[in-house]
Amino acid sequence: MGKRRPLIAGNWKMYKTAEESAETARQLVERVADVGDVDIMIAPTFTALASVFKVIQNSPVALGAQNLFWENEGAYTGEISAPMLKSVGCQYCIIGHSERRQYFAETDETVNKRIQAAIRIGLRPVFCVGETEKERESEQTLSVLDKQVKNGLKGLILDQLDKLIVAYEPVWAIGTGKTATDDQAQEVHQFIRSLVEKNFGSALSDSIRILYGGSVKPDNIAGLMSMPDIDGALVGGASLDAESFSKIVKYKLKA
Ligand code: 13P
Repeated sequence: MGKRRPLIAGNWKMYKTAEESAETARQLVERVADVGDVDIMIAPTFTALASVFKVIQNSPVALGAQNLFWENEGAYTGEISAPMLKSVGCQYCIIGHSERRQYFAETDETVNKRIQAAIRIGLRPVFCVGETEKERESEQTLSVLDKQVKNGLKGLILDQLDKLIVAYEPVWAIGTGKTATDDQAQEVHQFIRSLVEKNFGSALSDSIRILYGGSVKPDNIAGLMSMPDIDGALVGGASLDAESFSKIVKYKLKA
């Protein structure tokens, strides 16, 4: 198995103004200036992308967005396209987060269109999948993930997927303080990797990064990262504070 470079990503959701975001980014850049062996990304709100980019552009921290619309331009009031995100410095875009599926009618089909749009412009999609508590309790976890992965990546071919990142975020673990155990997360990550292998072959399944998300904190990151198929984290609450997020980024120091 090839070595995968860890990625620690922060999803700031709908928190912080442009000024507050820039300030947190400044504090983060100070704390992670010496990090060379982990990729770092933060995804502030759309209105803070430009101000955060100014702060992080010559640092190890990369910029991500939290969503995009699949057309490049047009009469789509309120939407933001992949080229627009690229033009303000984004390298990544979170796609299909469960909060978008739950509150904003996101489906596997619209997730697929967004992933295609991100890939067309050269953004790295962070493709989110995960089961609800009810689905886990009724032992549907793996079939739900199978469907999300298959439909989310429909029509894409191997050559288009070198920038793809998958984030496994069990819905019951998001913002609840209930992290999946290391073994629970590993089981699903291994399953997702096997789906990628089945559909796209072992070169991609060996190299693709699969992040875990859901109540990741400085005190549980090292255990998660010790699992063979967990390549990083998508962090919500604990990424809003530069001190706790930088501790997560530097998880190796805590091991
Ligand atoms: P929390 O880390 O707050 O549980 O959020 C996880 C998440 O949804 C990241 O995208």
